[in-house]
Amino acid sequence: MTVDFLELAKKRQSCRAYDQRPVEPEKIAHCLSAASLAPSACNSQPWKFVVVNDPDLRKTVAQATFGPVLSFNRFTMQAPVLIAIVSERQKLTAKIGNIVRKKSFNQMDVAIAAEHFCLAAAELGLGTCIVGWFDEQALKKTLAVPHRKRVELILTVGYPATDQTRPKKRKTLEDITCYNRYP
Ligand SMILES: Cc1cc2nc3c(=O)[nH]c(=O)nc-3n(C[C@H](O)[C@H](O)[C@H](O)COP(=O)(O)O)c2cc1C
Repeated sequence: MTVDFLELAKKRQSCRAYDQRPVEPEKIAHCLSAASLAPSACNSQPWKFVVVNDPDLRKTVAQATFGPVLSFNRFTMQAPVLIAIVSERQKLTAKIGNIVRKKSFNQMDVAIAAEHFCLAAAELGLGTCIVGWFDEQALKKTLAVPHRKRVELILTVGYPATDQTRPKKRKTLEDITCYNRYP
């Protein structure tokens, strides 16, 4: 198990090729626990994780992430588990914050929880990819998500087809940091 946080952050990468080995339900539960510990505005915890492991349903969900032209998400068909993250009702204070401060705290909350999930998964040797490009209406229909709710993200989960960690392509600290004043 990885203990050093930076090492774990480097190990987490978007996995787009999966082994067909099933994922143990207790590992999914472990990652969901990690997600549930994520911070959220006013502690609203405005999320529901719809875990899709039924093979037929999984296919239908995966098909909502790509089309004949934009096919870059076709890899989702391989993932043994897909998780749709639905944003749920926020606390009133967070809702007021959205309006007054013109923010989308619920989207931020869901994204942080998603990353908690992915980091926990990486520690267990699981691959994940956060998928934001999908046909939300089709997905809602497939998963019986009420019309008024939003599906913010999908996570693909499974054992990676290869255990190679790609070098990270990232801006330098110099590029992304300044102190005391915006440059
Ligand atoms: C909000 C969000 C949406 C994303 N949507 C997609 C997607 O639809 N398809 C995909 O293949 N990767 C998607 N990604 C993964 C990014 O492409 C990836 O995180 C980025 O290129 C950095 O690579 P790494 O995750 O391997 O470090 C998404 C990531 C985030 C955070």
